[in-house]
Amino acid sequence: MACKRVRTAVLISGRGTNLKSLIDACAVPDFPAEIALVISNVEGAGGLQFARDANIATKIIPHRPFPSREAFDAEIDGALHAANVTLVCEAGFMRIHSEWFVKRWEGRILNIHPSLLPKFPGVHVHEQVLAARETESGATVHFLITELDAGPIIAQRAVPVMASDTAETLAARVLDIEHMLYPEALRMVAEGNVTLQNGKAVFA
Ligand code: GRF
Repeated sequence: MACKRVRTAVLISGRGTNLKSLIDACAVPDFPAEIALVISNVEGAGGLQFARDANIATKIIPHRPFPSREAFDAEIDGALHAANVTLVCEAGFMRIHSEWFVKRWEGRILNIHPSLLPKFPGVHVHEQVLAARETESGATVHFLITELDAGPIIAQRAVPVMASDTAETLAARVLDIEHMLYPEALRMVAEGNVTLQNGKAVFA
């Protein structure tokens, strides 16, 4: 018998390979979440095609016409509510949200970042990892908070950094891990096995 699955939206700005990994995970009948909506702020985002191929509703909300972060976020919030979504996964969504939006979705919005947070938040992660001569890097899924890439960690996995690595080869190795990690983290949150309580990730 089909079980009730947690309606989830994915926010993207680009190629959407993490979105694809979430779509594939949700295609398995006993997965506890379903992708109900994909929102992109970029009209030509490659990842939108993954959603269309899977018959998932898409909505393009360009950020530029909005006078403020709050106004843009209010439009996103409206779309999420209209789709009756409970969880949100950010997957390469290149906009910073207003505090209002983050608080509204607190504990129900996840982000993936291609480093072993709290190390290397922000952009140009792999270049920074190589410059720092790290011997390992990895990926992190965390609850979104107002501070960038600083939310309580839900799941994290490491990969080795090779002496021969370029930012591109390291990014590819980390991306493979991301594609496994994000569905695992979404499963944990959708099943209620990890929650955000008083600013901490609490595991059941
Ligand atoms: C990933 O490396 C993710 O960790 C970061 O942005 C990239 C998005 O890649 N936040 P994709 O669009 O999912 O392929």
